[in-house]
Amino acid sequence: MERINLDNYDTDKGHNYIKFYEAFFYPYRFSTVSVLELGMHRGGSMRIWRDYFPHGKIFGVDINPVDIPDDHRIFTYQGDATNRAFLDSIYKDHNVALFDLIIDDASHMGHDARKSFEMLFRDHLAPGGLYVVEDWGTGYMPDWPDGARYGEYDVSHQQAEGLKSKLMRRKPDTPASPSAGHGAGMVGFVKSLVDHVGGPDIRAWGGDIEDWGIEYVTYTPGLVFMKKRAG
Ligand SMILES: C[S@@+](CC[C@H](N)C(=O)[O-])C[C@H]1O[C@@H](n2cnc3c(N)ncnc32)[C@H](O)[C@@H]1O
Repeated sequence: MERINLDNYDTDKGHNYIKFYEAFFYPYRFSTVSVLELGMHRGGSMRIWRDYFPHGKIFGVDINPVDIPDDHRIFTYQGDATNRAFLDSIYKDHNVALFDLIIDDASHMGHDARKSFEMLFRDHLAPGGLYVVEDWGTGYMPDWPDGARYGEYDVSHQQAEGLKSKLMRRKPDTPASPSAGHGAGMVGFVKSLVDHVGGPDIRAWGGDIEDWGIEYVTYTPGLVFMKKRAG
């Protein structure tokens, strides 16, 4: 099998990511896939996917202008990946309502990642498709806007997640627990997915959680792969 040679591409994706992408994406490799990546930066990953999927169409979104010369299989759009009207314009433009593979490599902020996911997974990922959230480890970075060192998630981060009122009710000298803190932000978002995988058991025992059609979730360092049920 021909492998992705990162020396040929201007991307910040490393071998630690590419080995998992190759493992998860290989079953789709020779199909006429539609791939959507949120966040293009210098366009390196657009070219990776174009070359890896010889029959694929690659759609990219970035809030900043990205200069990728015209290519009959790469289509780029400038806009905010959390904006529904903007995403809708892509589907209309290309008459593509469903993507087989969606990669979120955009802002790496919990509320953005959740918003894009909620707009795309159910309505715009094809049955049997994969959704990937990249760089979720930003949630453990102390200087990331909604991140914090593990065990040190502080009040300001929780406020950013709209948890202010909850905190107000807490005794002032109660330290924020690591699990409470990292239950929010990027890490909180990816952790919340586990409940959707547990949906059948939750509902069987009288609990209530919406069925988003997630068949399984696989976590690797920095990447989360979610498979959508085929039917
Ligand atoms: C990590 S870079 C993408 C790298 C690229 N996917 C690669 O692997 O070569 C993240 C990109 O996301 C873009 N971005 C940040 N927030 C965004 C948003 N809300 N919507 C769309 N793009 C966003 C940034 O402009 C930046 O170019």
